[in-house]
Amino acid sequence: MKLGILISGRGSNMIAIVDAVESGEIPDSHVAVVISDKPDAAGLEKAREHGVETVVVERRGRSRDEHDAEIVVELKRRDVELVCLAGYMRLLSAAFVRSFPNRIINIHPSLLPSFPGLDAQKQALEHGVKITGCTVHYVDEYLDNGKIILQRAVEVKSGDTVETLSARILEQEHSAYVEAVSGIVSYSTQ
Ligand code: GRF
Repeated sequence: MKLGILISGRGSNMIAIVDAVESGEIPDSHVAVVISDKPDAAGLEKAREHGVETVVVERRGRSRDEHDAEIVVELKRRDVELVCLAGYMRLLSAAFVRSFPNRIINIHPSLLPSFPGLDAQKQALEHGVKITGCTVHYVDEYLDNGKIILQRAVEVKSGDTVETLSARILEQEHSAYVEAVSGIVSYSTQ
């Protein structure tokens, strides 16, 4: 299955997927392209180090529809079949979502539907929840809203800071995202 990964920053989830494709943990797959809306996203260099093609599609004052249409062209040009959002910091337009029905997924650092949006780990700490985690879900045009594929729970420890909690969640994110992609690939190619 041809994968396309969208990032805006660090790209650690993207690299987890790239590593798992390389090792065969995600079977029969190829990362066709990593696309960033930010030219300075640290993940771009990491993707190139793995020999993965990268493309930058900046928003540059255009409408969301225009920006998304350009990204869809880049994905379709490479016959991408599954789009993985990995720290991609923009909502997708309805037209983008319709271009890949049930073929766009995202990872979010909370147990959705709790704490959608920015700073999910900080939100969890502020609410005093004792269990949080991460969620892999299908993407629609609403924020962190689509059907849930899988979740991992992470205990909040006393004394946790945003940094310590985020680090423990991130570890789970990497393996949860790999498991979800692997499951979708196996299901789709069997
Ligand atoms: C992750 O916590 C992810 O869940 C959220 O943004 C962060 C991206 O981190 N959507 P990275 O770029 O994958 O390292």
